[in-house]
Amino acid sequence: MSPRFARRLDGIEISMIRQIMSRAAGCVNLGLGEPEFADPPRVRKQARRVLQGGRIGYSPNAGIPELCRRVHEYHGGRGGHSVCVTNGSQEALFDAVFALAGPGDEVLVPNPGYVTYPTAVRLAGATPVPYPLRSRDGFRLDSEALKALVSPRTRALILNTPSNPTGRSLTLEQLQGAARLAEENDLVLVSDEIYRETHYGTPPPSVLDATDAAVVICGFSKAAAMTGWRLGWACGPRAIIDKVTVLHQNTSICASTLTQRAALALFTPEGRDEIERLRQRMVRNRLLTCRWLGRRMGQAFVPPDGAFYVMVSIEETGLDSLSASLEMLQDKVATIPGAAFGSEGEGYLRLSFACRPESLRKGLRRFETGINRLVQNRK
Ligand SMILES: Cc1ncc(COP(=O)(O)O)c(C=O)c1O
Repeated sequence: MSPRFARRLDGIEISMIRQIMSRAAGCVNLGLGEPEFADPPRVRKQARRVLQGGRIGYSPNAGIPELCRRVHEYHGGRGGHSVCVTNGSQEALFDAVFALAGPGDEVLVPNPGYVTYPTAVRLAGATPVPYPLRSRDGFRLDSEALKALVSPRTRALILNTPSNPTGRSLTLEQLQGAARLAEENDLVLVSDEIYRETHYGTPPPSVLDATDAAVVICGFSKAAAMTGWRLGWACGPRAIIDKVTVLHQNTSICASTLTQRAALALFTPEGRDEIERLRQRMVRNRLLTCRWLGRRMGQAFVPPDGAFYVMVSIEETGLDSLSASLEMLQDKVATIPGAAFGSEGEGYLRLSFACRPESLRKGLRRFETGINRLVQNRK
């Protein structure tokens, strides 16, 4: 039997990231965007308590009320806003895109940007329109270039701050500019702020500091190293979140009740301390990585002000990013080709420094060997 598949899947494949990682056995992982740290002990303890307690049934579709209230407060507690808790922020992203755009519509997505954005838009039947974050400008948002891409069909603008893969955060002025653009063109801002707690200076502004009329996508996968717990949410204007909840109900009924109840532990002073401890580890890893790349290797890179990625130029190797990343597997280090995130990522490899310091040092040593080898090969 050869099954026929829905047309919406045409051209949609497993991402380049997974393709690299599937060949990366025995490599130090500077590839995947997943903290290599243990999840917070408070969450584990609370989960054990929940397991030992009574039955774990469905929660209300939008999430258990106490968690929704906490998340609402976490995003400023704005009047007219509500929350839908989802299975990871990835689901929230899908639900928001599906709620806002369909055939004939366009959605602006960052280039380079997280691979799911254009895929979710395509699966919703709409057209992703990439807006450039140019490497020659240090991957900064060019508000004029963005404006020029808005059309009468544009329904939403996806922002990601701090960004995967660039590590850049948007400034309040840039967010205010995006808010004006949204208002003037009747489109919705969807701001993925999953890395908001991972910053290396003052906390980055949220889109909600610029406007109330935006949807924030967030969760604790990154800040609390809880990738496998699958906890995320969308928070924003009630009318939009109601639609997100309709989609969420029909795809997954509710997020894991065990996870939701355990995650309440993060909204206590002790839980906040654990998140801060994880952030401090990232601060040290970022310093180690930037020093290594700068002083030891003299390598061109864009220092991140948030998230746990750094984009490193591979210009000297003369290779495209996919070839360089595949070559590096020989040196037993996994990195992600910048091109996986869009054409503006070409010429770079994305390194994730969210690993234990021992792995990070080992990975950076191998990366150094690999780059030197590729540069020598070119000569
Ligand atoms: C920018 C961005 N958004 C969303 C996600 C999805 O995270 P999760 O579904 O674990 O919350 C990721 C994961 O790598 C990401 O990098």
